[in-house]
Amino acid sequence: MEAQQRHPFLKGLSKYRGAAPTVIVIFGASGDLTKRKLIPAIYNLGLDNLLPNDFYLIGFGRSPITDTDFRQQSMQCIEQFSRRKLNPELWEKIGNNTLYHSGGYDELSAFTSLKERIEAIEKNLEREVQILFYISTPPNVFKPILENLGNSGLSHRHSGTPLASKVIIEKPFGHDLDTARKLNHTITAQFEEKQVYRIDHYLGKETVQDLLVQRFANSIFEPLWNRQFVDCVQITVAESLGVGSRGGYYDQSGALRDMIQNHAMQLLALTAMEPPVSLSPEAIRNEKVKVLQAIQPLSLNADRSDAVRAQYDTGLIEGQKVNGYLEENNIPKESFTETYAALRFQINNWRWEGVPFYMRSGKRMARRVSEIAIQFKRPPGILFTQGNFFDIAPNTLVIRIQPDEGITLRMNSKIPGLETRTQPVKMDFRYATTFGSNTPEAYERLILDAMIGDGTLFIRGDETEASWKLISPVLDNWRERGRSGLDSYVSGSWGPLSADRLLWENKHEWRRSGP
Ligand code: BG6
Repeated sequence: MEAQQRHPFLKGLSKYRGAAPTVIVIFGASGDLTKRKLIPAIYNLGLDNLLPNDFYLIGFGRSPITDTDFRQQSMQCIEQFSRRKLNPELWEKIGNNTLYHSGGYDELSAFTSLKERIEAIEKNLEREVQILFYISTPPNVFKPILENLGNSGLSHRHSGTPLASKVIIEKPFGHDLDTARKLNHTITAQFEEKQVYRIDHYLGKETVQDLLVQRFANSIFEPLWNRQFVDCVQITVAESLGVGSRGGYYDQSGALRDMIQNHAMQLLALTAMEPPVSLSPEAIRNEKVKVLQAIQPLSLNADRSDAVRAQYDTGLIEGQKVNGYLEENNIPKESFTETYAALRFQINNWRWEGVPFYMRSGKRMARRVSEIAIQFKRPPGILFTQGNFFDIAPNTLVIRIQPDEGITLRMNSKIPGLETRTQPVKMDFRYATTFGSNTPEAYERLILDAMIGDGTLFIRGDETEASWKLISPVLDNWRERGRSGLDSYVSGSWGPLSADRLLWENKHEWRRSGP
């Protein structure tokens, strides 16, 4: 029964430990994500004894390298990027089952031979295995990979049984609404929706998972979580890094596609959604889709636009001078790709009518910080309002996704002394203090969940389309306008002035995010 299905973190780990014999095939085996995140995540699952006893990793890529080379490279990735040290005994076990399959993504024969290789593994084990495909390539080869998975029969193996193949798809999921829809069609031509795991690594972050617990396992928040008490919500996903060596990719993407359409919209959906009827994947995803569909299309009128964009200029990050966006490698001098975007959303539903949801994300901002701030309405301005002594700030609940993960409630307090003076103070919960700091990486949780077929922390096809539906018109508008209306901001600042206007129009201001 659906209501009895539990979210992974309520299940305990025993379920994972019984996972079926599994082969993970990574497309894009020599890519950056594979090296930095995927291989270390798989290794850490091994350290926690969470990989199935019969487990194989196959890297699939175009480079003509051998199994031994790939094993060696994988070991180096673990040494360099794993959160925990390499344990030679464990590595020997995983390494022995780490293989490489060389081939083109558009060559059917490479997929047929992959299938034969996996069948040989099954024969050797005298057991059937499930395959988890992880597509971590540039998006231009998503289509041939998916089609060849279908044409080779790999996508239909053990169909209708718990050993049915599964596929994880990395971002970017489409370039706009139209391409996202096409990609959904390509996927569903080869896989059933329940075999598909569209990844958004933000959903694997501990603090993002905790959002559901904070909201629905505490009774004090829910009565306040609505238009009667909330004045506005501010979602910030800021980075101090620039585009670095990813200029080629980033210039085709920009802040809206890279961070907002996926990560920040997921944060919004989890913050604003209604309580799900159960913790089953479908119940949670239904609520997320519903709230995304309730968001009003953004106004793009020049005189009251809900969207602001800007590019970073030169400036200082941690005291060091850094280049402006147009001076970065692989960025065309005439580029109008936004490195910062701020949006103002209205949710047209019973709970949120009239409460603005502000969102901002940018590169080269003052600090790396991702947070959700629920700003409550001010108390009636009767008692503590006169004179200069009174400093009544709105109560704010801040959920810090990263870094320094935690939750802070800001409230007003009397400063001890004979005068009646007030000051905002904070009640602070820090994950590191309470739970220690060595928490699993997002990719560990997500790979594990996909392996056991739990889609709770993945994005459903209709969800991604609902989000694109809001974002695509903004992208079209910005493309048509080129550099006109594109603002700039100093690297190391909190973004352009035009983003302040978005809030001033409603008598709000951005929170000064900080410790
Ligand atoms: C990725 C973006 O999805 O998320 C990157 O492509 C960004 O541009 C990264 O830097 C941020 O992830 P995190 O986990 O460091 O916040």
